[in-house]
Amino acid sequence: MAGVIRILTFICVAGYHQSSAGPVLRPALVVQAGQNVSLTCNMTSCVEFTWYAVRSNQLLPLLTVKESKLKEIIVSFNAAVSRFGTSGEMESGTLTLHILQAEEQDAGLYFCSGRCSGATHVNRGMHLVVDGKIVIFST
Ligand SMILES: *[C@@H]1O[C@H](CO)[C@@H](O)[C@H](O)[C@H]1NC(C)=O
Ligand SMILES: *[C@@H]1O[C@H](CO)[C@@H](O)[C@H](O)[C@H]1NC(C)=O
Repeated sequence: MAGVIRILTFICVAGYHQSSAGPVLRPALVVQAGQNVSLTCNMTSCVEFTWYAVRSNQLLPLLTVKESKLKEIIVSFNAAVSRFGTSGEMESGTLTLHILQAEEQDAGLYFCSGRCSGATHVNRGMHLVVDGKIVIFST
């Protein structure tokens, strides 16, 4: 577990340096406030996935998806945000994070980690930019 935390801390620091040093090397997804957002994690042979966000230089675990011994899918939500959800298939290794009606505060770097074939993998992540200038009223 210490190894995982070290990897994630490194990613966090790397992301921060990139954005403060000029060009952002990670791909960015620009959405408008109120839009639904889907981000896909693509890793095969994993028994567990966790989605993270880095916002204001803080690493926030969002949710974890696990397969139980009885092949049941268990999702645990770590963030107190009810607008986050997930869908996908563990077996094919494609897991999607859904953000319902993105808000400006959702902007940040999103990435997933997976426990796959005994090792921990981290995807390269995606910067989510929420353009708050256009507000979609949806009541
Ligand atoms: C976002 O998803 C929800 C639930 O699936 C849906 O009700 C809503 O219309 C969607 N909003 C937009 C802007 O697509
Ligand atoms: C996931 O990765 C596989 C193998 O690299 C690739 O064929 C597939 O298109 C990828 N899917 C997505 C959604 O990125």
